[in-house]
Amino acid sequence: MQTVGILGGGQLARMLVLAGAPLGMRFLVVDQVDDACAGQVAPLIRADWRDFDALEKFARQIDVATFDFENVPAETAQWLAERTQVFPNPRALSTAQDRLAEKTLFRECGLDTPAFAKVDTREDLDAALRAVGAPAILKTRRLGYDGKGQFRLRSMADADAAWEALGANANGLILEAFVPFECEVSVVAVRGRDGEFRTWPLTRNWHSNGILSASLAPADIDPKLQAHAFELARVLAEKLDYVGVFALELFVHQGKLLGNEMAPRVHNSGHWTIEGAIASQFENHVRAVLGLPLGDTAALGRSCMLNWIGELPDARAILNESDGHWHDYGKSPRAGRKVGHATVRARDDASLAAALQRVGAALGRGQQIAPVIDALTKR
Ligand SMILES: Nc1ncnc2c1ncn2[C@@H]1O[C@H](COP(=O)(O)OP(=O)(O)O)[C@@H](O)[C@H]1O
Ligand SMILES: [Mg+2]
Repeated sequence: MQTVGILGGGQLARMLVLAGAPLGMRFLVVDQVDDACAGQVAPLIRADWRDFDALEKFARQIDVATFDFENVPAETAQWLAERTQVFPNPRALSTAQDRLAEKTLFRECGLDTPAFAKVDTREDLDAALRAVGAPAILKTRRLGYDGKGQFRLRSMADADAAWEALGANANGLILEAFVPFECEVSVVAVRGRDGEFRTWPLTRNWHSNGILSASLAPADIDPKLQAHAFELARVLAEKLDYVGVFALELFVHQGKLLGNEMAPRVHNSGHWTIEGAIASQFENHVRAVLGLPLGDTAALGRSCMLNWIGELPDARAILNESDGHWHDYGKSPRAGRKVGHATVRARDDASLAAALQRVGAALGRGQQIAPVIDALTKR
């Protein structure tokens, strides 16, 4: 019996535990808060990321460590890697923690990105705006998630407001050109310890206020573009000597791919794989970090994942569907917080669109679901 240690105890850790249990794996989770929701399904140690006494105890009890949370300090990941096996490796983690390093790496791998510039001072912001143009988005280089730590600038005139909002950030900023993309897609991929590389079918994503709202898989994307996205993900993974699951978020703009960011962990846009693929991202991440053979990433029909943000809607709208799947993360409601998701699966586009119509009507959430139905009926 092997024990997987997970740094971070949110819903991603919770779903890793649920996927790893049938494989006979034990888990030990460490988080900074007592009520981390993975603690409902696995033993939880409460510790700060720099509490090395607690982390020493954690390291002694596990065979391998991985992450639910990518912003674990790089020093902590390195410290841990000197005591136990850590996947993904600390270098991959630290690259993905910094939007500037990440986008620089994308370009080295042949993946184009939105125009961007480093911003450390108010003068830098003016220079960056001249170089990148407006509209643009000012982002913190580190610690941003779910659209947090971002300021959208419509024109040069918004520079003062943007600096007011984010200028005090000690970890540096990045200005990016705003991309009027056709759509957003993500590659969810897994690389084993032996270098075997697999991707799930491309996922199409819709965001609302910077937070993922809905995903559709397989995405309705030109097969050539899809193959190119998979190839870029493979190059990236090899360059980082990556082990485990990661997601590569892409914009499709003027028929071409632009790299937005990568997540060095299982990803919200891969939640549909729990029911919608032969092996889920969670199962394959556990398999990968333990050096086990990887499972098949092929899709089973069509899936739409709907995120529940802030509070859960009525579960019955999903449970009434013959192929509807409910996920309650066991978290208390809070504005902007991911508290659960649902996956609706069907054998073809028309049946998925029909099921989503019913769900949207039952929940009064037509707005969240409409773009997905629109995409399904257009392809
Ligand atoms: N340069 C950009 N152009 C257009 N939209 C963007 C850009 N950057 C971010 N967004 C939108 O905001 C969302 C969240 O931004 P992202 O950089 O992925 O940060 P987070 O770490 O919060 O996910 C993206 O999925 C996209 O919808
Ligand atoms: Mg993102």
